[in-house]
Amino acid sequence: MTGTRALCVHPEHPIVDLHKSPKPQGNPEAGAVLVRITARPIHALDLSVIRKKFIIPGSPTNVGEGVSSVKRGDRVIPLLFWSYFIRKGAGSWQDYVEVREEEVILVPEEMHDDTAAQFVSNPWTAYCILQDLGVASEDYILQNCAGSVVGRLIIQIAKHWGLKTISLVRRDELKEELSAIGADVVINTTKEGIDMLGGYSTKLAAANVRSGGKLVTIGTLESTDLVISFNDMWRNIHHNIWGLINFQGDKHKVAEEVMQLFKQGIIETPGCRRFEFEEYHKAIEESERVASGGKVLLV
Ligand SMILES: NC(=O)c1ccc[n+]([C@@H]2O[C@H](COP(=O)([O-])OP(=O)(O)OC[C@H]3O[C@@H](n4cnc5c(N)ncnc54)[C@H](OP(=O)(O)O)[C@@H]3O)[C@@H](O)[C@H]2O)c1
Repeated sequence: MTGTRALCVHPEHPIVDLHKSPKPQGNPEAGAVLVRITARPIHALDLSVIRKKFIIPGSPTNVGEGVSSVKRGDRVIPLLFWSYFIRKGAGSWQDYVEVREEEVILVPEEMHDDTAAQFVSNPWTAYCILQDLGVASEDYILQNCAGSVVGRLIIQIAKHWGLKTISLVRRDELKEELSAIGADVVINTTKEGIDMLGGYSTKLAAANVRSGGKLVTIGTLESTDLVISFNDMWRNIHHNIWGLINFQGDKHKVAEEVMQLFKQGIIETPGCRRFEFEEYHKAIEESERVASGGKVLLV
């Protein structure tokens, strides 16, 4: 099989480029599944990695040919994370990826490809981070970037688990949208008297955490500098970073639990905008637009 496509990062320049037939795709080795990728999301981390000139963009997505537990033509999600791709040199921004049979799960019939394509990264993150935080029922979680896909999923799971949410956003329109999916308090930080300077979101969040409370940074959309006031350190705020890349748990257990949340209609991902694979320049631009809504997918 030839003529496959892959978006690769140029080894010397921070640009992605489309390559045809970077490697031939034949029969997968014993116990492996050759997955034809039909939809892959553009995540902020992908772009930051591209710009930092690492080599492999992409996050795991879906759809493939099977061996014994999956059969040819089944829709599947590879349960693979960044660390795997970095090691193996194979992300989802290409037509095919070969994975071990035990690393794929079947996509339920009722689940749309757009949702399946996002399954591992954001829903997984929202679920695991809330579990790790161990917030007691009726207690509050404060999150910034609450209009993001992760933010929306956190709101939905938190509501289901009886936790209260304070959501910080930068646009008024999000107040209604987030309230509709269960947010308790939504504050537009650009309008309502909370000072939010570039790179200072962590400081703002820390200032609002109770003494001895936990603060977790999972992304750096504004700045990679994490600013925390001495006063908040003094109040014993425990600050950590959290990354899916370090996931050590039972993948199949988490996959099953997150899948149940989808099946029961407790979580859903916002609508996606689809771009043809070859239109990746436009797609990347769209993914960085203010108020861009749900994920941009390359299909
Ligand atoms: N650590 C991990 O393992 C992990 C896993 C998944 C995601 N993440 C991180 O989680 C974050 C959200 O990811 P996502 O995929 O859910 O993002 P996303 O849906 O693509 O959305 C980006 C969101 O961030 C908001 N935003 C962007 N820049 C902002 C700024 N300067 N101030 C306030 N809001 C801003 C946008 O608001 P508007 O709607 O107003 O434009 C938009 O709602 C990212 O930092 C990502 O890297 C981390």
